Amino acid sequence: MLKKITGLLNRQKVTEDENTLLQSIDRNRLPKHIAIIMDGNGRWALRRGMPRSLGHRAGVESLRSIVELCSELGVKVLTCYAFSTENWKRPKEEVSFLMDLLIEYLDKEIQELHRNQVKINAIGHLEELPQPAREALARAFRKTENNSGLLLNLALNYGGRTELTDAVVKIARLVKNNQIEVSDINENLIKEHLYTAGMPDPDLLIRPSGDFRISNFLLWQLAYTEFWLSDVMWPDFKRIHLLQAILDFQRRERRFGGLIKK
Ligand code: IPE
Ligand code: IPE
Ligand code: MG
Repeated sequence: MLKKITGLLNRQKVTEDENTLLQSIDRNRLPKHIAIIMDGNGRWALRRGMPRSLGHRAGVESLRSIVELCSELGVKVLTCYAFSTENWKRPKEEVSFLMDLLIEYLDKEIQELHRNQVKINAIGHLEELPQPAREALARAFRKTENNSGLLLNLALNYGGRTELTDAVVKIARLVKNNQIEVSDINENLIKEHLYTAGMPDPDLLIRPSGDFRISNFLLWQLAYTEFWLSDVMWPDFKRIHLLQAILDFQRRERRFGGLIKK
């Protein structure tokens, strides 16, 4: 029943069916790294006269199906913004609900993720998360550390400005300790000191729920990322939406400031 209502209220018209989309996608030109701002849970719930917490719970279902599809398709990295450095401003009941939901997600999903060779990673100031959340993350990292499939990167207590500040501090220390010269500082060195060191930059950024902003996400890494924005609230965001986003991505011309030979 809930599914039916959700479908009806979906503001984005879904005309093509999943199989047609799946067949249209060029498997050789998949985005290597997809980043998602999982936004709109609260509004989704409030519009249904439900507490925001139920929106967050419904959002976990979307995460589950999107992780599964990325893994099936062979996407290499999926970075999902789950909690920002600014989200602590929310009422403490909501914050603790989100932390409990994280633990529940990790503990419930871990077997399935592991079976699908998903490797779990997290970016952000994890040391400031409540201890039970840190422990659940540690269990998930340990269990999946040798997996070679999709890298699921959870952005938790993550802020792009904090990430850049951390990189500046680390590099300044290297200079102070005479480990490097100021002239050694270049884009590559900065890249290597971000939380995403070793990962390709996102090819595709998805923000559902109708807001057109970055909200302090991956400020450095998004320099040449293709954006895909949608009115669909995250709890309504399903496989078909990701397929549409990938197909759209494959129709784009990425120039990186240069020119394409015609
Ligand atoms: C995203 O949904 C989840 C988190 C930020 C943790 P929101 O809670 O921001 O939902 P809206 O934007 O208020 O609808
Ligand atoms: C961004 O959403 C953070 C996450 C989805 C975790 P927000 O809801 O916090 O962003 P703003 O406040 O609308 O910019
Ligand atoms: Mg929001």
